[in-house]
Amino acid sequence: MQIPDTLIERLRKAQRVAVLTGAGVSAESGVPTFRDAQTGLWARYDPAELASPDAFRANPTLVWQWYAYRRSLVEAAAPNPGHLALADLERRVADFTLITQNVDGLHRRAGSQNVVELHGNLFRYRCFSDDEPVELTTAPPDAPPRCPRCGGLVRPDVVWFGELLPPQAWRTAVAAAERCELFLCIGTSGVVRPAADLPLIARSAGAYTVEINIAPGALDGLLDLHLYAPSGRLLPALMTAAFGHTP
Ligand code: APR
Repeated sequence: MQIPDTLIERLRKAQRVAVLTGAGVSAESGVPTFRDAQTGLWARYDPAELASPDAFRANPTLVWQWYAYRRSLVEAAAPNPGHLALADLERRVADFTLITQNVDGLHRRAGSQNVVELHGNLFRYRCFSDDEPVELTTAPPDAPPRCPRCGGLVRPDVVWFGELLPPQAWRTAVAAAERCELFLCIGTSGVVRPAADLPLIARSAGAYTVEINIAPGALDGLLDLHLYAPSGRLLPALMTAAFGHTP
């Protein structure tokens, strides 16, 4: 796969790098992307109609079971070479921030340390009533448990449609986009705001911006460079080209 020398040189010399990932970076781990057609029991549901406070209010058991299904997919998955390449890159760059829209936790399982989870995490929970964290050793598969403090329903600690991003996570992400010299936007359709604004914020602040995807999407033509290949193959190739053999 042909990687432009300009990107290899920039990566090799970069001191400040920010990365935004979407569901595409987990696709080669077997985790369906958010807009992949859902399969089996869930084929008849549109994710956007399940990932919302109204959906949870209307049918908490259904929404809870959908997230239990998604957790089961992630538990059966492993980080892929794309995740591992990003964990390796973090160890080589002085100022590195990995911002993810993914809620699957695979970046941390791959060894990434400084991960900003813009949309939360499937394996964290909070109370739907008092909004405070709830610790669950295991999540019951069939129905949401009750909050030990107030008896409210427990929900996944993920950002649902119509909800605000965690303020601190968003501030950290914007600061990283504004100070980086190289911004990699990997495996995202670029249709959900404000996450999709981050590469544009980086570019307007002077960073060299790169999209890695398997097909052109909403960001096409808006960044400095667009590379179309699976991230699980392209990222290791990029790391090898820039730094020699990588684990
Ligand atoms: N390598 C790189 N990109 C890939 C790969 C791959 N192997 N496979 C798929 N892609 C790309 C697709 O082309 C698409 O652009 O990944 C992207 C996945 O897009 P979405 O399913 O929309 O996922 P994402 O961009 O992460 O969605 C953003 O929207 O629905 C909300 O909160 C949800 O975090 C999610 C957010």
